[in-house]
Amino acid sequence: MSALARARTGGRFISFEGIDGAGKSTHIATLQRWLQARGHEVVLTREPGGSPLAEQLRELVLHQPMDALCEALLIFAARRDHLQTCIEPALARGATVLCDRFTDATFAYQGGGRGFNLQVLAQLEAWVQEGRQPDLTLWFDLPPAVAAARRSAVRSPDRFESQDDAFFGRVRDGYLQRMTAAPQRFARLDAALAPEAVWQQIEAALEAQPWW
Ligand code: TYD
Repeated sequence: MSALARARTGGRFISFEGIDGAGKSTHIATLQRWLQARGHEVVLTREPGGSPLAEQLRELVLHQPMDALCEALLIFAARRDHLQTCIEPALARGATVLCDRFTDATFAYQGGGRGFNLQVLAQLEAWVQEGRQPDLTLWFDLPPAVAAARRSAVRSPDRFESQDDAFFGRVRDGYLQRMTAAPQRFARLDAALAPEAVWQQIEAALEAQPWW
């Protein structure tokens, strides 16, 4: 698609998902450079967060104890502000938005991991997003034990990263359910492979898109 046609139809929205330790951060940065080298305006953002208000809510969600409903409400409040002030304006001017996690993470972590009511999440999703979904979701999938080994090598854990393999197994099942409900939007990547092999899967997923 030419830059002009892309501007007319709006930009593309790509989200990145997976359990903590799946290795998505490296690939998001690589994809940003790859797209910029092809002339795209790229907006790189993340959830929870991505706008000044949403970043403040992120701090609370990741570090303060709270019940599951409170967590879900804050995450969707952050998402609403992020959509209105960052994502929608970027898409409207034809930019490609790369978002490190989006609503699939809420269904996977709050729904799958915490066992929170999926119907409530679906209602919040409908109110907050008004139909907006990513055009493509890259799901970095790998076994929880492999991800745990990677996490232990790098950082001090937040409220989610400190969960056990059983929690991340439920998160992974949550992602699988989301993919099963919207298979056309998802590309499942084997994130246990070496970084070069994962990158090849990302390129293939992009090139398979009809709008690419
Ligand atoms: P992450 O995006 O992996 O950032 P970092 O690499 O800096 O740790 O971490 C965000 C955490 O928030 C991650 O553990 C998943 C969690 N999360 C939810 O529980 N629900 C959500 O809706 C989102 C977007 C994230």
